[in-house]
Amino acid sequence: MGTQAWLRLDFPPHSYEYGVGEGVLASLGPKLSQLVRSTGAVVVADETVAALPVAVAVEASLEGVGFVPTRIVVPPGESSKSLATAERVWDRFAQAGLGADGVVVAVGGGVVGDLAGFCAATWMRGVALVHVPTTLLAMCDSSVGGKTAIDLPCGKNLVGAFHQPRLVVAEINALDSLPDREYRSGFAEIVKCALLLSRAELARLRAAAPRMRLGERADLLAAIDLAVRVKAEHVRDDVLDRNDRRALLNLGHTVAHAIETESGYVAYLHGEAVAVGLVVAARVAEARGLCAADLVAELEQTLAAFGLVSALPGGLAPRSVVDRTRMDKKRRGTRRRMVLPHARGGAGVYDVQDAELLAALTA
Ligand SMILES: NC(=O)c1ccc[n+]([C@@H]2O[C@H](COP(=O)([O-])OP(=O)(O)OC[C@H]3O[C@@H](n4cnc5c(N)ncnc54)[C@H](O)[C@@H]3O)[C@@H](O)[C@H]2O)c1
Ligand SMILES: [Zn+2]
Repeated sequence: MGTQAWLRLDFPPHSYEYGVGEGVLASLGPKLSQLVRSTGAVVVADETVAALPVAVAVEASLEGVGFVPTRIVVPPGESSKSLATAERVWDRFAQAGLGADGVVVAVGGGVVGDLAGFCAATWMRGVALVHVPTTLLAMCDSSVGGKTAIDLPCGKNLVGAFHQPRLVVAEINALDSLPDREYRSGFAEIVKCALLLSRAELARLRAAAPRMRLGERADLLAAIDLAVRVKAEHVRDDVLDRNDRRALLNLGHTVAHAIETESGYVAYLHGEAVAVGLVVAARVAEARGLCAADLVAELEQTLAAFGLVSALPGGLAPRSVVDRTRMDKKRRGTRRRMVLPHARGGAGVYDVQDAELLAALTA
């Protein structure tokens, strides 16, 4: 694999290119000019990302082919995924004269991707969207699959739309400025994807972990490529998230979401919670004989190689996490549905009882 990889993602009826690597941003303008006719563009970023070279490079690439981008800056953090911020963004679209043939370029992590994506999905009933993900999580996860959303005071991601981007450009060099904790946390989703593929992929990822922790490009490119392919494969068969195919991507997330909610979304980054959730799911699978007895240990070693802890955070009562998982969106009536890993890679969705989950959380 060279220093760049371009994948074509097909989500019928849509298809778009996903580019990842060093220097891919230079292709943003030229590729986009083939996709949209208007020169109207808005670039949405949070305050942190707006001050980084990546934001300047995005605008330079757009201007290089004749776009006249307007920059829209929002405060950093999950609180920007709100109706109030969306309203301000729509107002700025209006001031910028963004027409139905214009394009919204979301530059940043999953927060900006979800917010700008939602605003693009709803502006004039949908305008073109481009993702320039700048966190590892956004590169591997939120920029792929077409989900956009904002939060309500009563819950996360409750208002949203499916809106596939026209192009995704993941500039690996942008990760250099990412805080180490955010960077490490992003690997939880990659570990999840490797686990969904095979034990061999998990072992390969673990072996490459020390190099990736140092920012080694070739391994990082291969890991992002793997995660994007796995996500795309699961989304392709279930674009609107209606059956259990896309649900498999929720491996580790039933417990992760419970941890995040119980801890008020402040103490743990998403990936840190997913790391715990993956191990708990593997423990339940192991107790049921669905996967090999040494998977849990292997998973823990892999997560540790990325500096991710797999024990339930201190201060959180296992019982309250169990109770919280009953609110999971995969539930059917009062039945708790969890994704559990299989022996030969892959996973399935199973009904899991309180006692089993409690045992896995306290193991
Ligand atoms: N749409 C989807 O399918 C999907 C999937 C997973 C997660 N999400 C959403 O993604 C969000 C989390 O995304 P995130 O983890 O990327 O968080 P984030 O967008 O808040 O970014 C994390 C922090 O890193 C900063 N940052 C971003 N890029 C940087 C860079 N290159 N250098 C330095 N700092 C940088 C940001 O300003 C922010 O403070 C959540 O809201 C979640 O719901 C969506
Ligand atoms: Zn996730």
